[in-house]
Amino acid sequence: MNTTPPTPDVDPFGSLYTRIGEDGFARLVAGFYERVKADDILGPMYPKNDWEGAEQRLRDFLVQRFGGPTRYSDQRGHPRLRMRHMPFAIDQAARDRWTQLMGQSLAEADLPEDTHAPLTQFFDQVATFMMNRS
Ligand code: HEM
Repeated sequence: MNTTPPTPDVDPFGSLYTRIGEDGFARLVAGFYERVKADDILGPMYPKNDWEGAEQRLRDFLVQRFGGPTRYSDQRGHPRLRMRHMPFAIDQAARDRWTQLMGQSLAEADLPEDTHAPLTQFFDQVATFMMNRS
């Protein structure tokens, strides 16, 4: 098992945050969770009574990862994302659905065109890294 966190090379200087901003990440994540809530594979995995919290955690993580304020780690500590996802059964189908719904949200979120490719690369690689069941 390769335990090296993926994509250290995506946006190494944190320039995406200055281009996308808080509002851009907020739109992206809100559109994603609207889809997750209605999704037959992913919907049941998320905490029913804490959609807002889940949205905030993903948004803050992305803001931090792409060069913005470090609210995520201030509140949650080191991300250790693979470990935090172990309680959820993430197989190929769940991984593919996650990236599909994020792709749909990205297409709608009105972010600068040239941010789509690095974001997509990042999501695809991290999602693969999260798989923990076959
Ligand atoms: C591969 C499919 C994935 C599934 C099925 C999945 C599912 C979940 C679930 C059920 C949670 C708990 C919700 C909460 O209460 O926060 C969660 C948390 C989280 N996920 Fe994912 N996830 C996936 C991929 C990803 C990817 C690709 C990223 C990052 C790009 C990501 C980032 C996060 C973050 C930051 C949290 C909050 C961690 C914490 O601080 O507790 N996830 N995920």
